Amino acid sequence: MSKPRQEGPSLAAPGGSDQTGPRTVVVLAAGEGKRMKSALPKVLHPLLGRTLVGHVLAAAEPLGARRTLVVVGHGADQVEAHLAEIAPDARTVRQAQQRGTGHAVRTALEAEPEAATGTVVVLNGDVPLLRPETIAALVATHEAGGCAATVLSARVPDPTGLGRIIRTAGGALERIVEERDASPEQREITEINAGVYAFDGGPLRNALEKLSTDNDQGEEYLTDVLGLLAAAGHPVAVHAAGDPVEALGCNDRAELAVLRACLRDRINEHWMRTGVTILDPATTWIDVTVSLRPDAVVDQNTQLRGFSEVGEGATVGPDVTLVDTVVGPGASVLRSHAVRAEVGPGASVGPYAYLRPGTRLAGKAKIGTFVETKNAEIGEGTKVPHLSYVGDATIGEHSNIGAATVFVNYDGVAKHRTVIGSHARTGADNMFVAPVEVGDGAYTAAGSVITEDVPPGALGIARSQQRNVDGWVERKRPGTPAAEAARRAGAAHRAEAARQSGEAAGGDAG
Ligand code: UD1
Ligand code: CA
Repeated sequence: MSKPRQEGPSLAAPGGSDQTGPRTVVVLAAGEGKRMKSALPKVLHPLLGRTLVGHVLAAAEPLGARRTLVVVGHGADQVEAHLAEIAPDARTVRQAQQRGTGHAVRTALEAEPEAATGTVVVLNGDVPLLRPETIAALVATHEAGGCAATVLSARVPDPTGLGRIIRTAGGALERIVEERDASPEQREITEINAGVYAFDGGPLRNALEKLSTDNDQGEEYLTDVLGLLAAAGHPVAVHAAGDPVEALGCNDRAELAVLRACLRDRINEHWMRTGVTILDPATTWIDVTVSLRPDAVVDQNTQLRGFSEVGEGATVGPDVTLVDTVVGPGASVLRSHAVRAEVGPGASVGPYAYLRPGTRLAGKAKIGTFVETKNAEIGEGTKVPHLSYVGDATIGEHSNIGAATVFVNYDGVAKHRTVIGSHARTGADNMFVAPVEVGDGAYTAAGSVITEDVPPGALGIARSQQRNVDGWVERKRPGTPAAEAARRAGAAHRAEAARQSGEAAGGDAG
């Protein structure tokens, strides 16, 4: 059985039946976003785990619309490739020239004429903070009131650049005026158009045919549809957003940064209310796609990205970045960077560790300071405490890897794997030249370059025998502080030897 589509909470018409026919969502994403000054189309800019258009589509998802159309144009190939990944069910419609938001909707309805039979929800592609509940409430108001059009509005402290809601003396919507077409008095109005609308398909299509381009930008404005419908006597409504932050659009990178901070606060507040401790919300950046369990603790300067998960009672931070990384219950990750890694229950990582893709730490394993891991399976209770590189390795349980060890996995052509058993203890400063295997319970000596397998329980030693050349410093480096220190040590040693032999002789006599 396929996953049932979620229905918005307040969408059911009175009596619970759907009296309005199918719904269509149209997302406008064809604009260039000139003010972003970017090679990347505006709607593809990332914002805490999704692109701008990804957020808008996610907000519309719970509506369960019969069809979703996304109008693309600028950077269409790139935008379409992204949409194929994140919203494969959405249909894209190309708007070859960006002749305005009204033209964009007209283009969509021409491509899919059946869309003009029910409620058509139109969303600007650059309002990423919009909540599903707000779309649901807008649609409910619209459908319950039998309106031809309903627009989401917000009162904002600074309405610069936005379309103003012009009301009649009686308070009804008269029309929407764009800032650049507005009179000075109209510019004083702080109630703005959020760029989110519900329309009845038939009247919408008729009004779109009548749009003029007689405005400052010479474009077909979707906003003029509302004025046309109101003037023709259709019921047209304004639905005020509960939280004006939801109406914030994004036209340049400064606005994007403001949105990012707003979304950060919203996400952090959500997790704190579910029982997560966030010690410094201002420096904690959690993607919308991340999940955390109660009693997790997130310390300052921490970024949790992608599909990362943090388990119950786990601690991450300070100074941690996790990308698509799962941290088990009770684990701790301190001042470290991890990408596509798994940290088992009660395991500990850092400070200053780098876990690369394919790292899997079992329960209570430890990765210490200045350790880098990649494609490494590290068993329960096994420790890699200091200054090591562990790449393409499988290590069993309760083994200890000595400080400054390198898993030499690359011969310049291919990567090879090192296997180390359970309860093994490898010496400091080892090189494991893969492919190589160290058996269960085996030891290796410090400073060894291990190129051959070490059987279970054996000691592997792979280093040359030490040889001391006595008196070398006094002969070869005379007059240096080292030679002087050596001379003093030699004299003291000889005196002590003489004293001991004297004592021994005296003892014999007595
Ligand atoms: C629009 C509204 C304005 C509202 C504001 C809210 C109009 C005329 N004005 O202004 O009243 O206050 O949003 O943020 O609608 N797009 C297309 N094709 C086009 C033009 C635009 O797909 O030909 C898309 C853009 O990619 C964008 C959205 O429509 O996602 C809005 O366009 P934008 O140019 O940002 O409109 P604003 O000037 O912000
Ligand atoms: Ca905009």
